[in-house]
Amino acid sequence: MASEELLAWIPPGHPDRELALQVAPDRMPAHVAIIMDGNGRWAAQRHLPRVEGHRAGIDAVRDTVEASARLGLGVLTLYAFSVENWKRPKAEVSTLMSLLKRYLRSELNTLLSNNIRFQVIGRVDELAPDVRDELAAAEARTAANTGMCFNIALNYGGRAEIVDAARRAIREGIRPDDLDEARFASLLYTGGQADPDLLIRTSGEMRVSNFLLWQIAYAEIWVTDTLWPDFRRQHLLEAVLAYQKRDRRYGGIAAPPVAAGVK
Ligand code: IPE
Ligand code: IPE
Ligand code: MG
Repeated sequence: MASEELLAWIPPGHPDRELALQVAPDRMPAHVAIIMDGNGRWAAQRHLPRVEGHRAGIDAVRDTVEASARLGLGVLTLYAFSVENWKRPKAEVSTLMSLLKRYLRSELNTLLSNNIRFQVIGRVDELAPDVRDELAAAEARTAANTGMCFNIALNYGGRAEIVDAARRAIREGIRPDDLDEARFASLLYTGGQADPDLLIRTSGEMRVSNFLLWQIAYAEIWVTDTLWPDFRRQHLLEAVLAYQKRDRRYGGIAAPPVAAGVK
């Protein structure tokens, strides 16, 4: 059964309660990462400009962040803007940045009341100063929170992150023999956090698009045709339930079935 905080948030009789009750608390993913995709297609289906899809996507972010915190996830990472997304029209990029600023301002109280720690991952120094200020303010205000860590990947690239970690290793004078996988992982933007157990992508695309390349080595992947602006608590619960049915082998062999009555 899912956490009390989650159940307390779902009205009696709501179909999501059925899903929440099926969640096994002892098989929770520690870290869920989401490639939020399909905003443009959502808008196109409604004959609206692409930016309206991004605007609608904010509601999905709000619902997903709160549902994840109430579900008791340790880390939630949302992919909001890739290093490749600068290729988009200037007006779309600037709308995305202002939506982000507006989101941070309007949602700060929700982050605080849910004990969520907010953190940006990506090449933050390449973002505009006003965006950086807003991000830094949200990070500072939530820094002492002890609940879920909410990473937003902004100007993020998986390869860029690996290059940045390699540069850090050189700058810190780490000797080649001292560099192993654990040490290298600690130099990534997500250093100290568990790797994603579950990677979700919306809008049906079967690709990774340069997201958390190192960290998803053994993530379970769940793709839904739902477009990001339509993604809600229900879909997150469906993904977690699907994840809990997976047999994770890490290169080994399937676990033998547990005999009835044996503890
Ligand atoms: C995801 O939706 C949002 C970002 C990448 C910022 P898209 O804008 O990629 O929407 P589609 O893929 O064109 O439908
Ligand atoms: C991935 O979506 C990036 C984000 C969700 C921020 P894209 O829409 O940019 O990815 P591609 O171009 O379809 O691979
Ligand atoms: Mg896309």
